[in-house]
Amino acid sequence: MNIKHLMAITFIAMTLTACGGDKGTDSQSDSVKARQNLMQDWRGANDIMKGMMENPATFDAATFKEQANFINDSNQAMWSHFADANAKGKSQDAVWTDAQGFADKKDAFMTASANLAVQADTAKTAADVEQAFGAMAENCGSCHKAYKQ
Ligand code: HEC
Repeated sequence: MNIKHLMAITFIAMTLTACGGDKGTDSQSDSVKARQNLMQDWRGANDIMKGMMENPATFDAATFKEQANFINDSNQAMWSHFADANAKGKSQDAVWTDAQGFADKKDAFMTASANLAVQADTAKTAADVEQAFGAMAENCGSCHKAYKQ
């Protein structure tokens, strides 16, 4: 074995040790990453629906419904990623110190996203979902104002 190989093996061994020795940090950053990724997906879905609200002629009932359902159906997964108070990410401490306030925002959002999914089920035009979409989007911002850095 030449010296290059030996160095490579040593480096890999060190890397593995560094990862394996710090499981707590790993799982914290996992839940931060998971909720940030899902939040980004929500933004993508939100943007698609918003585009249709701004250009009603482009309203596509099936696509709109798919985005509304995606957000509504991933609520449970989203909020499960906020369980660990040590996994702060870009959340305010208030998510955990004011847990009741955060739960209220969550509930208000879930009511709004469920209502949007119901309205989207039968919507034929942008006007049919405009109000329900506005209410849901408002709840994104209202929670961010208090609980996102
Ligand atoms: C009940 C509170 C709450 C609601 C409702 C909510 N968010 Fe968030 N959002 C947060 C918090 C807290 C963070 C910061 C997460 C972190 O980094 O720890 C965040 C982060 C984000 C981010 C940044 C993610 C990143 O890559 O850092 C985006 C984008 C986002 N939210 C979009 C949305 C959209 C779109 C909606 C509505 C469809 C929404 N959020 C609803 C609380 C909420």
